[in-house]
Amino acid sequence: MSGTPDFFYREAQRLGYVARSAFKLIQMQKQYKIITPGSSVLDLGCAPGAWLQVACQNLGPLGKGGVVVGIDIKKVKVPSMHCDARVKTVCADVMNLPRDHVRALSPQNHSFKEFPPSSAIRLSAKGFSVILSDMCPLVSGITSRDAALSAELGMRAVDLAVGRAAALDCTENNNASEEVQSDICSSASDTDGVLRRGGHLIIKLLESEDVKEFSRICKPLFRKASWLRPRATRSCSREIYLICQGLLR
Ligand SMILES: C[S@@+](CC[C@H](N)C(=O)[O-])C[C@H]1O[C@@H](n2cnc3c(N)ncnc32)[C@H](O)[C@@H]1O
Repeated sequence: MSGTPDFFYREAQRLGYVARSAFKLIQMQKQYKIITPGSSVLDLGCAPGAWLQVACQNLGPLGKGGVVVGIDIKKVKVPSMHCDARVKTVCADVMNLPRDHVRALSPQNHSFKEFPPSSAIRLSAKGFSVILSDMCPLVSGITSRDAALSAELGMRAVDLAVGRAAALDCTENNNASEEVQSDICSSASDTDGVLRRGGHLIIKLLESEDVKEFSRICKPLFRKASWLRPRATRSCSREIYLICQGLLR
């Protein structure tokens, strides 16, 4: 298999994907199995919709449920190929969208618990099980400026996912010992973020010194955080993805 951009462009056309970026998520999905049947997926920066297509394909049959909600500054028509009724899009600026509005777009997650032991009560929690951010600024060509804007978008994705308080806790406690730090991060409330406990987060960034900060924030919050530069990335691009698996709180 050739790794040239032309190859991925042609493959996207041949397979009915609206953009070659589909192959980035396909690779992440193969390696990390982020989306499972019935997942609730939030796709930040979803235009033109290739990740919506790949996310929907991984939800499994309609009967398994699941949802894909895409948000972009641009208006996005849900692609007719590889998407079904579970895919919805919203036109909005993620930087200005209140977290409560984002949470309201998520499906209700129902679970049953015995409390007291004889009577089953239903517990409901809203939120997403997967958050993808492929957001990127309009590239100016000024490397440091583009990287800083990309870091702002990435930080907004982290903030929406885990809540500002949790992210700040982990940053502020970076100087604390490993043991104390993980105590603080894993006992914090997750009520602020829209990512459910055990959920996964993918963030696109442009390589710079700033990306180290994302590792520092995310590593204590997730079971695992790894960097990936997908094969479908153009050779001239500085993009890199942080794959965070299993939100701990
Ligand atoms: C690389 S494209 C995403 C491609 C998409 N994942 C796909 O596969 O079709 C990046 C998108 O981020 C969007 N974006 C950038 N800043 C944004 C913001 N503040 N709010 C919402 N979308 C934003 C852009 O409009 C652009 O469509």
